Amino acid sequence: MGKMSYYTDFWGMNYDICPCDVHVTDYLEARNVKDSNIFHFGTGTHHHVGIRCHENGSGNRVLGITASVEEAEAYVKLAIERPEVSKSYKAFFGDIYVLEPKLLPNFDAVALVHLCEFRAPAMDEYGGYTDRQLIDLFTEKLNPGGHMIFYTKSMAWDRAQPVVEAWAKDSGFEKTEEFKTLAIYRKNK
Ligand SMILES: C[S@@+](CC[C@H](N)C(=O)[O-])C[C@H]1O[C@@H](n2cnc3c(N)ncnc32)[C@H](O)[C@@H]1O
Repeated sequence: MGKMSYYTDFWGMNYDICPCDVHVTDYLEARNVKDSNIFHFGTGTHHHVGIRCHENGSGNRVLGITASVEEAEAYVKLAIERPEVSKSYKAFFGDIYVLEPKLLPNFDAVALVHLCEFRAPAMDEYGGYTDRQLIDLFTEKLNPGGHMIFYTKSMAWDRAQPVVEAWAKDSGFEKTEEFKTLAIYRKNK
């Protein structure tokens, strides 16, 4: 078994380069998503999605994953300094491609904003999912009427888009809207 393929860097808030996390919370606010469970792929050191969902009074609960040691450390500091935020916002270190579905709750919105960006061949050695399997896993975890959120300005969107479109066709989802840089999919009635 090889070692985990992790993110050896860390990412601060760079809205001009990567506005996806701000657009995720803008979307949730614009569509009045409240009292909901949100999954978020890629926290950044800023932990914007979890913090904003606490500060805006939405009552949304966020589970975020990061594969960056520094971003995980930033969460530890956040939890120490602002325990009230850490109640509804949990972030953990791990590789999203080896999530155990039985350890996950159901979600009302899933933001797979970095789909196809970080899937590495090294993950094959430890049984990592493909990007399609990752969407399928979260489809199983999505509550009825839930939102699947993708990022059309991702550096890997040229590879992610066909994966998303094939998944939508096979799974009965349709693109309900493009919101800023995001593509939103919901299940056909
Ligand atoms: C370019 S940063 C973007 C962070 C944040 N979403 C933003 O836009 O500001 C990419 C993010 O993906 C996360 N990431 C990369 N590979 C991952 C993996 N295999 N599993 C979980 N998270 C991963 C990194 O930890 C980092 O948070």
